[in-house]
Amino acid sequence: MTLEPRPVLPADLAQLEALHASAFPPGEAWSADALGVMLALAGGFGLLLENRGFILARAVGEEAEILTLAVAPLARRCGAGTALLAAALRRAADCGARELFLEVSRNNIAAFALYAAAGFTQVGLRRRYYADGSDALVLRRDLSAA
Ligand SMILES: CC(C)(COP(=O)(O)OP(=O)(O)OC[C@H]1O[C@@H](n2cnc3c(N)ncnc32)[C@H](O)[C@@H]1OP(=O)(O)O)[C@@H](O)C(=O)NCCC(=O)NCCS
Repeated sequence: MTLEPRPVLPADLAQLEALHASAFPPGEAWSADALGVMLALAGGFGLLLENRGFILARAVGEEAEILTLAVAPLARRCGAGTALLAAALRRAADCGARELFLEVSRNNIAAFALYAAAGFTQVGLRRRYYADGSDALVLRRDLSAA
């Protein structure tokens, strides 16, 4: 089965809210309004795998960043996260970005494994960055080969 994400449209915000709520703990889930604000940021874009997951990112100049990535629990370990991330890498490179950054909790084993497999390496550390007191690892991926 091919996993080909499509661009997020404003009409998708309710679905994005439901997917985000399924993927993150209650205090960390984003509302449709908050997701809309992220999408409307300069250079913001989103990619969706219907009813499975989505990724939001932004690309400004030569830098891009992942804003959030969420895959519904029942859709995990089937390559959705990898497909969304790969599509975001391509889109950011197409927009002219040369490097892509993201933050991930030191405790998020699944996400860190996904990002490491996609070629991200740690370039920084933000101590007690998250509400639960965990540290954020700052990861970077060169986009010249994306
Ligand atoms: C992280 C997340 C997006 C991964 O999505 P996914 O669709 O399951 O990812 P994939 O199926 O593409 O997995 C790719 C690889 O990542 C690693 N991985 C994914 N989930 C893992 C887990 N629970 N434990 C260990 N490694 C894991 C594996 O190496 C996996 O390859 P494999 O299945 O061949 O072993 C998903 O678990 C999720 O939405 N988590 C909650 C939200 C979140 O943490 N978002 C990221 C915030 S920075």
